[in-house]
Amino acid sequence: MTNPAPWWTSAVVYQIYPRSFLDRSGDGIGDLAGIRDRLDYLQWLGVDAIWLSPFYPSPMADFGYDVSNYVDVDPLFGTLAEFDVLVDECHRRDLKVIVDWVPNHSSDQHPWFIESRSSRTSEKRDWYYWRDGTRDRPPNNWRAAFGGRAWTWDEATSQWYLHLFLPEQPDLNWGNPEVREAMYGTLRFWLDRGVDGFRMDVIHGIGRDPLLPDAPYDVERVPWSSQNDHELTHEYLREIRKLIDAYPGDRVAIGEVFLLSTRKVATYYGHNDELHLSFNFPPLYAPWTADAWRRRVDRVVEEFDPISAWPTWVLSNHDNPRHRTRYGSEARAHAAAVLLLTLRGTPFVYAGEELGLEDAKIPASARVDPGDRDGCRAPIPWDGSAAHGWAGGSEAWLPWPPDSESRNMEALRDDPASILYLYRRLLVARRGSPALRSGSWQARPAPQGVLAYQRNSPDGTDSRTILINFTEHPWPVPVRIADAIVEIASDGVGEGLPYGGTLAPDQALILR
Ligand code: NOJ
Repeated sequence: MTNPAPWWTSAVVYQIYPRSFLDRSGDGIGDLAGIRDRLDYLQWLGVDAIWLSPFYPSPMADFGYDVSNYVDVDPLFGTLAEFDVLVDECHRRDLKVIVDWVPNHSSDQHPWFIESRSSRTSEKRDWYYWRDGTRDRPPNNWRAAFGGRAWTWDEATSQWYLHLFLPEQPDLNWGNPEVREAMYGTLRFWLDRGVDGFRMDVIHGIGRDPLLPDAPYDVERVPWSSQNDHELTHEYLREIRKLIDAYPGDRVAIGEVFLLSTRKVATYYGHNDELHLSFNFPPLYAPWTADAWRRRVDRVVEEFDPISAWPTWVLSNHDNPRHRTRYGSEARAHAAAVLLLTLRGTPFVYAGEELGLEDAKIPASARVDPGDRDGCRAPIPWDGSAAHGWAGGSEAWLPWPPDSESRNMEALRDDPASILYLYRRLLVARRGSPALRSGSWQARPAPQGVLAYQRNSPDGTDSRTILINFTEHPWPVPVRIADAIVEIASDGVGEGLPYGGTLAPDQALILR
């Protein structure tokens, strides 16, 4: 007997950026109580798992991706006891909980770094990368992700320390076994509390060439965080995988492998002994054209299928402009939802995309992010009131997205033609269709500007055909299915009726 496929192959994961989801305390910053408050909504929507971006104690130089304690909750967001209740309530609703894990770097305020920095002979000196040099000459040419060099000179001890992101985010030295043991302890801490898995930040960064050689001259301006790709990371991932697989219940390791090469990303699945899932970002950066998407999907099929790696799909997250903004229209956002939720793999929905939110316009005076990502992190408007359902008291930490008086959860829930209902219908359709959840993927002939594919369930009894019109023109698209019925239309037109043979502008269809 073969084991049933683990839950994360058929799940739809919903990413929550806690600061922006819902504030219950009244300080203008979202919190765990706010998330708890919306679990009924998430259940109604029909997602299977939530991924929480960091909620750990942090000085917030990178809004939580600078962790000063890996095993607690920042008081801004709540308490560990509240976290436990949240996990419990999720599990009671059959929602899995995935937490973010930030192993590449800590905060410079983490006690480990404070100790490490205290002197050259500190017992934790080697927990981070300290190198000799002179104040005007860093140890190598690596660039940091948000600009500038990846090294900061420490006056007190006259050495450089390494940080692939902000100076407030010193890189942990994974070459030191004590660091690995300490970080594995943090995984166990959350696994013991019942989390269902981790989204692992910059996971391809942890293994380094011990000599820290220069980046090649032609790419020396490219941040090292999107180039580091070393065998040692695979060794550490095999250790991490063993640790996670030792827990019952198919806990999942999802890696943020920010290498814009699908071939390289595939290597981080190892021989089914490293990551269970990895993000693959080239599709996220693809323009909204059928050609570009066909190429990105083909690359995934070519690289992932031969090693039985299960793909992931993501259109929006907390690091990039929302796809509603990038693609430029509501109709395209509707069509993109059909694409995201019908490709072969595990889809990730970024909170607010089900409302069709655009990025907020952030005046210079309100900008807070060193990486210029405030727009996509705007707070979620839950209703049409001035505070949009957030606890009154203070303003939210960032401006609201455009049209929040009318584009908010409550208003869209009153409108069956809204994008919110499209997401909901798509999630229902996935649940009801083995072909969509776990079936094979095959391209179908289609006119330029249209992507057509078929999903077939492993036992051949269930099948769906998906047609996506990336253009503003109607296209005749013949299909070979007898009596094809429109199960879902991105514009809601003709659902339940026979397919007429033509795709409307910007329309996407699921046919059965
Ligand atoms: C990737 C995270 O998604 C991003 O928000 C963060 O700034 C960097 N890693 C550094 O942790």
